[in-house]
Amino acid sequence: MLKEKIGFIGGGKMGEALCRGIIHAQVSETRNIMVSDVLTERCEALHAETGIHTTQRNKDVVSFADVIILAVKPQIMGEVLNTIKDDIDSRHLVISIAAGIPLRFLESGLQTGARIVRVMPNTPCLVGVSATVFALGTYATETDGRLVSDIFQAVGKVFQLDEKYLDAVTGLSGSGPAYVYMFIEALSDGGVKMGLPRDVATTLAAQTTLGAAKMVLETGQHPAKLKDDVASPGGTTIAGISTLEDGGFRACLINAVKSATVKSKKLGKQR
Ligand SMILES: NC(=O)c1ccc[n+]([C@@H]2O[C@H](COP(=O)([O-])OP(=O)(O)OC[C@H]3O[C@@H](n4cnc5c(N)ncnc54)[C@H](OP(=O)(O)O)[C@@H]3O)[C@@H](O)[C@H]2O)c1
Repeated sequence: MLKEKIGFIGGGKMGEALCRGIIHAQVSETRNIMVSDVLTERCEALHAETGIHTTQRNKDVVSFADVIILAVKPQIMGEVLNTIKDDIDSRHLVISIAAGIPLRFLESGLQTGARIVRVMPNTPCLVGVSATVFALGTYATETDGRLVSDIFQAVGKVFQLDEKYLDAVTGLSGSGPAYVYMFIEALSDGGVKMGLPRDVATTLAAQTTLGAAKMVLETGQHPAKLKDDVASPGGTTIAGISTLEDGGFRACLINAVKSATVKSKKLGKQR
């Protein structure tokens, strides 16, 4: 259990997923967590369902917490930094999970010396299987890095990388869950087209994705080797693989990561 109090500014999809993830993983007690959001209903629902503190005043979160997680849309980050900059002091560690928002922008939006860490998690943190990467800001310490690891390791895998990689991380794992949901939905459609009941098709598609992912993570074998293990000569699998190649499956995925990475860079350049 962390002794630090954790505050979220922005209780939307990602803020809520992270908040529920760290409660579920018992990283922090609910009495040590506060979320601020503009929407009263969202605050009331989060408080009622989790028992955490909620407010509509971002300044309340800054005075309450030691660790401030900025979970608002990139477009309004400047505005939010402006409302809290006079309240952030040396006791605070500021974590931004916003896509595309560079550390230099965050550092210029707060007092000089503010300890800031840029983090790119993803929504499966809700079920404790997030893929997260973080980069330390100018004034953030190794101890801050360990605290960020403790928080995000509780809800998945964590890597520390140089900030120059964060746009690519956003394009791969930040946005990646959406690509995989499309993959699962399409596999399910294929099953239904072949006569399977929808619920069975979707469960088979999701379980197959989970199983294949665990095979890669737990065996450490290259995905191509694991693919070849399934594709016996003249068999069913190679017939399916051949159709995927005809459709440009790999190139499509590679280009999807590229498009999302370019978008993340653009979001950063606008700042
Ligand atoms: N979703 C993902 O998969 C994902 C993954 C990695 C990183 N991120 C990053 O996480 C951040 C949040 O994304 P999200 O998907 O969670 O968006 P979201 O669902 O829109 O959450 C943002 C929340 O902040 C609220 N908000 C707006 N203005 C505010 C203010 N001034 N002070 C406090 N709260 C305010 C919004 O309320 P209203 O809706 O009423 O405006 C909303 O509830 C983004 O920067 C995004 O790049 C998202």
